[in-house]
This record gives sequence, C-alpha cells and structure tokens, in this order.
Amino acid sequence: MVLRLPLPSPFFTSERVMTSIDTLEAFLAELDRIERRAADLVPAASTATDVEAARIALVGRESGALTALAESLGSLPREDRREAGQRFNAVRVAIEAALEAAWAGLSSARTTAVADPTMPSRPFWRGARHPVSIVLDEIEGIFRELGFTIALGPEAEHEWYNFGALNFPADHPAMDLHDTLYLGEGTLLRTHTSPVQVRTLQAYPPPVRVLAPGNVYRRDFFDATHAPAFAQLEGLAVDEDISFADLKATLTWFARRFYGQGTRTRFGPSYFPFTEPSAQMEVEVDLGDGRGARWLEILGCGLVHPAVLEAAGLDSTRWSGWAFGMGPARLAMSRYGINDIRLLYDSDVRFLEQFDAC
Ligand code: DAH
Repeated sequence: MVLRLPLPSPFFTSERVMTSIDTLEAFLAELDRIERRAADLVPAASTATDVEAARIALVGRESGALTALAESLGSLPREDRREAGQRFNAVRVAIEAALEAAWAGLSSARTTAVADPTMPSRPFWRGARHPVSIVLDEIEGIFRELGFTIALGPEAEHEWYNFGALNFPADHPAMDLHDTLYLGEGTLLRTHTSPVQVRTLQAYPPPVRVLAPGNVYRRDFFDATHAPAFAQLEGLAVDEDISFADLKATLTWFARRFYGQGTRTRFGPSYFPFTEPSAQMEVEVDLGDGRGARWLEILGCGLVHPAVLEAAGLDSTRWSGWAFGMGPARLAMSRYGINDIRLLYDSDVRFLEQFDAC
C-alpha cells in the first residue's frame, strides 16, 4: 500500500491573504492589520537579518503582505478604488520609511562598535624593502661618498640612445644579446641602462659622475639565472684625464666596501661597443653555500669609447671617462645566498619579507 501524504500547498505557507477582499471595509481592515504588524516587526528588528525578514514579510515582491493586498485593489467597487489606493500608498510609504530608518540604525550601531577604543586592534602587517632595493640603496650610498649623483632615463627608449649613440654598428652581432620589444616609431624597451650615459652627457657638461639605476628588458628565458625584465645599475665618470687607473681604483674600493675589506678583485678582458678597452670585474666571495670562496663576475666596465662622447656632443680629445654596468639582483643573490633569480621577481611576500631588518 502506498501512503500518500498531503503536500503542503505553497499558498498556505505564504503571507498571502486567502480570503477575497472585495469591499472597502475589508481592504481597510487588512491594511490596518498590516500597519499594526509593521509597528510590531520593524522596531523589534535588531539585526540585519531581522530587518530583511521584516521587509520581505511586509513589502517583499513575491509574498509581502502589502504586495498581496495591492492585487485585490482591482476587485474593489470602482468608486472605492481611489480612496483605497491613497490609503494604501500612505501606509506603504510609512512602512518603507520605517524599514529605511531601521537599516540606518543598524549601520550607525556598527560604526559605534568599531570605534570602541577598548577593542583589540587588527594585526598590523607592514611591508619590507625588496632585497634588490636594499642592495641598490647600499651601492648608491657607497658611490655617493665619492661624489656620484643619481640619473634616471626612460624605460621606453629611442633606438638611437639604446644602440646608435653607444656605437653599436647597425646589425652588429652584439645586438643579438639585446633582443627586446620594439614599440614602433623608433622606440623600444631599453635593453640596458647605458643609454642614460648619453642622455646625461647631453644634459650636463662634464665633469660628471652619475649612477643610473633602472629596469631593463630583454628577450630572455625566465630561469634560475635570467629574467626578461631586471634591474641594472650604470655608472659613468667623465672628466679630463680619466684613465683605466681611476676605473680600477674606484671599482675595487667599491667591492671592498660592499663585500668586506679584504675582498680580492680581478679584471679580465671583455667587449662592449661603447667602451675601449672593455673589461669585466670579478670579486672573490664565499657565497656561504659550503663551496668556499670563488670568483664571481659582478660587472662589465671600460673606458668610454670616443664615439660615445662625440655622439653626446663632447670633444673626445679633451674629455675621457670610464663606465660600468652591473646587475643589482646578482649582488643581492651573492649577499643573501639566493640561488634562483626568480625568487627576486616572483613577489612571494613570505620570501621577500625576510630581508628587511628595519
Ligand atoms: N650595458 C652593458 C650590458 O647591459 C653593461 C655595461 C658594460 C655597461 C660595460 C657599461 C660598461 O657602462 O662600461 O650588458
């Protein structure tokens, strides 16, 4: 035998008025009942859930008591509809205003609670300086003692500043290492900070000593030792009678300030179109990885090529200079024993916040 249970009818679960209202008296009596219901419900609503429940019961679009009553307006005798409508509207406006006021009361209560001075404060999270920024600040501090100032140039650079003015012959293979995004109209994302050398020499008459930090871009894989966007730091000194001895002395002094007094340095031959002669400097450092001290190349450098001085409008028979370019990320890695450059550019806060002690 199948036992059939009566299904609850949706009509009896709602607020709908089931008795038909077809006289003005019945209409006004129901309106009165709703008004009294609102006077009970709304002032008693002390939480957002209560206020919302009252709103649904009274004026909710699906099953609100007023909504249901509005439907019976059409069943009233024609001559009573006007009065019924006006009374109805007055009650609806009053109920909506009461609901509105109940909402406002809730939010001001909440503001008062948050302003309570005895509440415990939220946990305070402060950021940390990025390891590359820490190292850059330190390097800049060391060079500032020697009279260097900071110069900045654009990241979207003219091809001429990035290559031509730096003595890269058109289609020279050295440019293969500098593949980048070309932005149109002779501009590209700069592949190095060296263009700032020329911009500085055009803007300021020598003697100049500047450091140019900034981001550079290359078509490179993102692996443990390469990043397609990375920080570089350029150095340039131009004066009368600058020689390779100035370069060696200054960079060695820097290395000892940065890595420690006894640090050994060595210079080996290299090639850059914008320096002649060109060199690379290595420092002997212990990276703390248990493999002991070893030679680490930290920068490229050289005497500024006369063609670069001329491109900047200087007389290369009078002025001479030396320059270097280094990757602060590499210095940060050697300083902190970081073995993967991606850690520096992934922005994982758990990693980054370990370095800034202040
Ligand atoms: N611009 C070079 C590069 O990105 C680095 C460099 C080497 C800069 C030698 C210099 C320099 O100023 O003298 O590979």
